[in-house]
Amino acid sequence: MKIDGVAYRTIWPAADGWSVEIIDQTKLPHAFAVARLTTLEEAAHAIRAMLVRGAPLIGATAAYGVALALRADASDASLDRACDALLATRPTAVNLRWALERMRRHLHALPEGARAAAAYAEAAAVADEDVGINRAIGEHGAALIREAAARKAPGEPVNVLTHCNAGWLATVDWGTALAPIYVAFEQGIPLHVWVDETRPRNQGASLTAWELNHHGVPHTVIADNVGGHLMQHGKVDLCIVGTDRTTATGDVCNKIGTYLKALAAHDNGVPFYVGLPSPTIDWRMRDGVREIPIEERDGREVTDLTGKTADGRIETVRVTPDGSPVANYGFDVTPARLVTALITERGVCPATEAGLLGLFPEHRAVA
Ligand code: MRU
Repeated sequence: MKIDGVAYRTIWPAADGWSVEIIDQTKLPHAFAVARLTTLEEAAHAIRAMLVRGAPLIGATAAYGVALALRADASDASLDRACDALLATRPTAVNLRWALERMRRHLHALPEGARAAAAYAEAAAVADEDVGINRAIGEHGAALIREAAARKAPGEPVNVLTHCNAGWLATVDWGTALAPIYVAFEQGIPLHVWVDETRPRNQGASLTAWELNHHGVPHTVIADNVGGHLMQHGKVDLCIVGTDRTTATGDVCNKIGTYLKALAAHDNGVPFYVGLPSPTIDWRMRDGVREIPIEERDGREVTDLTGKTADGRIETVRVTPDGSPVANYGFDVTPARLVTALITERGVCPATEAGLLGLFPEHRAVA
């Protein structure tokens, strides 16, 4: 997507031919900064500290992290160490495991001397495929927005509610939940996006709002608790969110608070869609609530808020009393029964095992 007319992805090989550059998302929305990754450790840190975040981008960064590790040492031990270190960075997004398994499978078979170049090429393929997948999700999802527009008075905007940031910043490009919005916007469908702020890290208020603002998509940032009220008053036509891991049965794990939006949508008859790139499906899991590991992060993300002061300084302040204990769960699981449909790169399907296998028959168990 473009920033001030210049096309960017969230991760790209640097001009030196070996290091990797990323948009440092911890600096947004108040500053646009590019960070350079030169080692496995820097790639792991970028994921853990959320300079990069969002399930697909975590996977692509991990793939480049393996390439950086192999450039320094292409032995079996180095490959194993890199995959183990990267896998330990964040537990919930399954794209991380998916990308590392793909890299390991591809590279183990090669002679050491060929591994580093092959790792860069494979990481670039992971990134390019992500862009294609998300553009296809955008096309399929835009059709749903077009259908919603047809049910409204001519020219009246379709109101879409989204949670967290599942836009181009969460992927290599386009986004998952926001891809249908960008494609619908391109197609001239009038729309407006309700952006959940998404405490504690505020990915909605700081990242989704920044993206939509740069792209000129009409939007309004709302506090996390507002969505239910808007749905009761007919002000949300549909919800679209992303996912960090979806079970083979269609349970969806996404940023904390997604489940509450799905409950409110269900109670108010508002369609609740999930943008789902296939690397985010965990075909080994069947019960999202019991099986998906939920990340718990540093409590300071709850106690502290960082923002820009009136005179332009970036400052962090504490919003809780000193000494109050806090808990910081990063994700929750929305059971499949609350999901209207999954928007994948191969089309839209019910959030069921049969629905997913209908689009991805290669995952049917071989008898
Ligand atoms: O903790 P984050 O910012 O990595 O969480 C991101 C999300 O929850 C997104 O909705 C999800 O990764 C889908 S991104 C296309």
